[in-house]
Amino acid sequence: MPKLSIAILASGRGSNFQSIIDGIEEGEIDGKIKVLITNNPNARAIQRAKEHDIPYEVLSSELYHSREAMDARIKEILDSNKINLVVLAGYMRIIKSKSLLEQYKHKIINIHPSLLPAFKGSTDAQKDAYDYGCKISGLTIHFVSDDIDGGEIILQKAVDISSCSSGDEVADKILEYENKSYREVVAMFSKGTFEIKGRHVKYVPD
Ligand code: GRF
Repeated sequence: MPKLSIAILASGRGSNFQSIIDGIEEGEIDGKIKVLITNNPNARAIQRAKEHDIPYEVLSSELYHSREAMDARIKEILDSNKINLVVLAGYMRIIKSKSLLEQYKHKIINIHPSLLPAFKGSTDAQKDAYDYGCKISGLTIHFVSDDIDGGEIILQKAVDISSCSSGDEVADKILEYENKSYREVVAMFSKGTFEIKGRHVKYVPD
């Protein structure tokens, strides 16, 4: 049986979701994606799930008016699938539920397209980095807590954006590294554990 039972939460294109599918299919990640959860019925991520026989659940905002109701349904899906790693991959809603965050503490991870704490909380961090005139930006993979983009940092990658001439170009450049790094981190979860002391995260391979 694979070590990881993974749930992916995604709202859009799903290139990071795809990189994790590829990591599993190519034997780098010892895991199985049990479910894709999305809040967007038109997400390209759904197409990817269908292509790879991954079950998916659409929790549209029309059905789930309150954040609490949506989070409660997410928790039910995670519990019933015995999920031990939740991967937020371009999930555009904030998880607020205390019970969900507590029960899955250090089991929910997110990717943010900047070197946190720079552009923390931004939904357009690549454009923000470009507009600010940054020469270096990058990505951060971190645990999810009740502090938005503020959980303990697992991995960061710096990306030279000095030659980029728009926010979109920055986003494309960082995305290449996001796809590689997210897959790498999920593979690490499948082959070891993370020790957390304060804000310090140390990887311990099996
Ligand atoms: C990525 O840039 C990620 O960092 C951000 O949303 C984007 C999702 O891209 N949180 P994709 O849907 O995985 O292609």
